[in-house]
Amino acid sequence: MAKNKLGVIVGSNRRESINRKLAQALAQLGGDAFDAKFLQIDDLPMYNQDNEQPVPAPVARFKSDIEASDALLFVTPEHSRSIPAVLKNAIDWGARPWGKTSWPGKPAAIIGTSGGAISTAVAQQHLRAVLGDLGLQVAGGEAYIQFKPELIDAQGNVTDESVRKFLKAFIDQFAAFAARFTDKRVSRAA
Ligand SMILES: Cc1cc2nc3c(=O)[nH]c(=O)nc-3n(C[C@H](O)[C@H](O)[C@H](O)COP(=O)(O)O)c2cc1C
Repeated sequence: MAKNKLGVIVGSNRRESINRKLAQALAQLGGDAFDAKFLQIDDLPMYNQDNEQPVPAPVARFKSDIEASDALLFVTPEHSRSIPAVLKNAIDWGARPWGKTSWPGKPAAIIGTSGGAISTAVAQQHLRAVLGDLGLQVAGGEAYIQFKPELIDAQGNVTDESVRKFLKAFIDQFAAFAARFTDKRVSRAA
């Protein structure tokens, strides 16, 4: 049976991003349900309404990547108790030009990691509000991962068994949620 296409959006442009490592681990754990594609956001220009007609080429690519995704996974750091500017910039481009938003109806999940004790809790609340406003179908539940240097190895394996089980349940639940919005994995009741 065809797998749903998962667009993975990492809210960091850092080479050694811990959120990218978490996203890679999740893509691996969800591999039986999803074909994951990481959507590039670090080459998008700073949003400017003057530059919408036509949108710059990287923006056109990003919007078409969103539209081709059956579901979207947001894996984000927290910057000063909100989402990083690079992520908000990408979200704004995805919503524009007026009348050509790429977001509505896409099932989405939110997760993030930092070294802090409350991890990315506040950024995730902000992101949930933004995505709700844009008409995405955001899965319920909360997932905050406190990152430790050895948590995810170079191959994307989660080394702590309890965290691995938690992340596997998270991605499996999201796969089931996303399948409600497509007809690829479950048949809809008549
Ligand atoms: C500008 C800035 C603000 C930050 N603010 C927070 C914060 O509010 N909460 C938090 O837990 N970590 C915060 N951090 C630390 C990040 O969690 C840490 O840099 C983490 O590695 C970012 O994720 P990344 O590696 O995926 O980019 C901040 C980092 C930066 C650069």
